[in-house]
Amino acid sequence: MRLDRFIGHHTQQSKKAVRLLLVKGRVKVFGEVVMDGLLEVTEFCRVELDEVTLQDRKALYMMLHKPAGYLSATSDPNLPTVMEVIESQGEEKLHIGGRLDLDTTGLLLLTNDGNWSRRITEPGLKKPKVYLVDTTDPITPEYGDLFESGVYLEYEDLTTQPAQLEILEERQARLTIYEGRYRQVKRMFWRFKNKVTALHRESMGEIVLDPALAVGESRALTKEEVESV
Ligand code: URA
Repeated sequence: MRLDRFIGHHTQQSKKAVRLLLVKGRVKVFGEVVMDGLLEVTEFCRVELDEVTLQDRKALYMMLHKPAGYLSATSDPNLPTVMEVIESQGEEKLHIGGRLDLDTTGLLLLTNDGNWSRRITEPGLKKPKVYLVDTTDPITPEYGDLFESGVYLEYEDLTTQPAQLEILEERQARLTIYEGRYRQVKRMFWRFKNKVTALHRESMGEIVLDPALAVGESRALTKEEVESV
């Protein structure tokens, strides 16, 4: 929203009165006097009029080492959710950028910035998501060939983006995908009737799960991590 409209909305003053407040240097954004009413104000800008704070909301960006057995949801009547694991962020409601299945572990991103979380999950942006996959049966090179050419998903009536498979052990591989369809990794392996027994997300875009975080631990993202999205 434009700063002049923001001030008008919060003070119920006329456009002319708002212009006067601005030119008199009575409005500050992040502590600096701003006279330009056209400045874009986001929900996370601190805005003051004289000594009165009109808005001061911190943007929160967290990574969680998700444990198995916790739902990627904000609440659930039956199962524990990841919100019970992450440190409380006061009144702020966090939402999840890229859900993981109940039994999947690894990198989960949480934020109160809706625009940011939409960017990380937007399939059009083709951000790589890297998973460590364990399976019941051996993984053969033909898996890599099929994943590279795309797997047709009947329900969505689409073919997945080319994905890269690195076979690490007979029954373990690292898979990089570029979208996040429902249970995508498990469905890709199921194409070979091979069941995924453990799934762990290592990274999303440039954000890598911090090896210092034990299962269930979380930390704030760094400025670089936030800006990489
Ligand atoms: N793909 C899956 O099948 N499950 C997940 O939790 C994430 C990706």
